[in-house]
Amino acid sequence: MTKVLFEHRGKKGVDTFAGWEAVGGFQALKRALKMKPEEVIEEVKASGLRGRGGAGFPTGVKWGFVPKNTGKPIYLCINADESEPGTCKDRVLMEELPFMCLEGALIAAYAIGAKLAFWYIRGEFDLSERVIRKAVETLREKGVIGKNVFGSGWDVDLVVHRGAGAYICGEETGLISSVEGDKGQPKIKPPFPAVEGAFRCPTIVNNVESLAAVPWILNKGGATYAALGTEKSKGTKLFSVSGAVAKPGVYEVEMGYPMRDLIMNECGGPQAGKTLKAIIPGGSSVPVLPAETALGMNLDYESVQAAGSLLGSGGVIVIDESQSMPELLAILGRFYAHESCGQCTPCREGTGWGSRLLNRIDDGGGKSEDMVTLERIARFMTGTTICFLASSMAMPIQSFFKHFRHEFEALLPATTEARGD
Ligand SMILES: Cc1cc2nc3c(=O)[nH]c(=O)nc-3n(C[C@H](O)[C@H](O)[C@H](O)COP(=O)(O)O)c2cc1C
Ligand code: SF4
Repeated sequence: MTKVLFEHRGKKGVDTFAGWEAVGGFQALKRALKMKPEEVIEEVKASGLRGRGGAGFPTGVKWGFVPKNTGKPIYLCINADESEPGTCKDRVLMEELPFMCLEGALIAAYAIGAKLAFWYIRGEFDLSERVIRKAVETLREKGVIGKNVFGSGWDVDLVVHRGAGAYICGEETGLISSVEGDKGQPKIKPPFPAVEGAFRCPTIVNNVESLAAVPWILNKGGATYAALGTEKSKGTKLFSVSGAVAKPGVYEVEMGYPMRDLIMNECGGPQAGKTLKAIIPGGSSVPVLPAETALGMNLDYESVQAAGSLLGSGGVIVIDESQSMPELLAILGRFYAHESCGQCTPCREGTGWGSRLLNRIDDGGGKSEDMVTLERIARFMTGTTICFLASSMAMPIQSFFKHFRHEFEALLPATTEARGD
């Protein structure tokens, strides 16, 4: 199977400047700098690459949204916040292949006309931050960041900005607020960041994994990348698999790869003596699926959606029969209640209230009407808020109840009829 992101993973010294150069590093950047920025954007459009931060928006199309000739500076923000529970792929890319990630970011900055990029890194990522900072210093010393990069006449600088540990700073407008020195709180869109982002200037926010694929695309051509994967989900994707499998880890597979093969082959199947019960395929915010449903689907945006969930960030959480679904949902509820930024009433109140109800169900002190109340809270939280965090709690509630209702009912005294509002 073709590897794009992990083509050079594990090779000796590939995390150093010389090691990255030895495997062909910086050829893509040099190639890009000889092209017009619009041509680089066209190449990325031709690849069909879609954003790997969760939403799956076409990367080249987003770059093309940056307005021309506004007279304002243009910024690139690299989203290395990676706080979605179950997701740990950007960390692996940064720590093992830092120069590949940086090369991708520099190509993106050139393509959109940015001279300044912000590498926004998750507050808890101590090692990743040190690796990226050191790599940025090396690139400065070598003149790959600075004035007149590779004699192209293009100047660029890159600032590493470490977050303070808030999940919501992964949301692009929250990230921008944080970069500006404000509280990391999302803003209503439009305006979209590409038009009005950091410091009210055009800004592109891209996930680390999206940018890390760009050097390969420039080297091998957009069409070569587009030939991988499925018709609508091109290329490869990283999946960080955690939970009840024999070999948890981060795996690169082509889009459209069967989930059953990922779990049974790459991950070595369930842990000894365990039977799989459920799988969350795209990070904790997406709907959970019964294991049999998830194992029967392919790993691309369309197939996962058709099966009733979302590909999201590719954080595959595998749950076995010994685990309690009410307990897992109560843990998720506490996470979202803690991470809500509090601006929107349905989210601030809904996550807190929902979490309290989930905790008491799990503790055995729930009331018969609690599930009906939770279903109503989830409904009122969906589509009524500035950002997607509220839905990120609503979707797990709805899907856990849909597929594992009996486990919750078993903890409650008696169930009340659903109300029709
Ligand atoms: C609550 C919330 C948290 C998010 N966290 C992250 C994150 O940690 N990393 C990330 O790349 N995108 C995250 N996103 C998605 C970003 O808003 C944005 O879509 C993404 O960075 C765009 O990059 P891409 O087009 O390369 O995927 C989050 C979105 C929401 C609503
Ligand atoms: S939905 Fe929640 S996290 Fe998002 S802006 Fe509103 S209160 Fe903040």
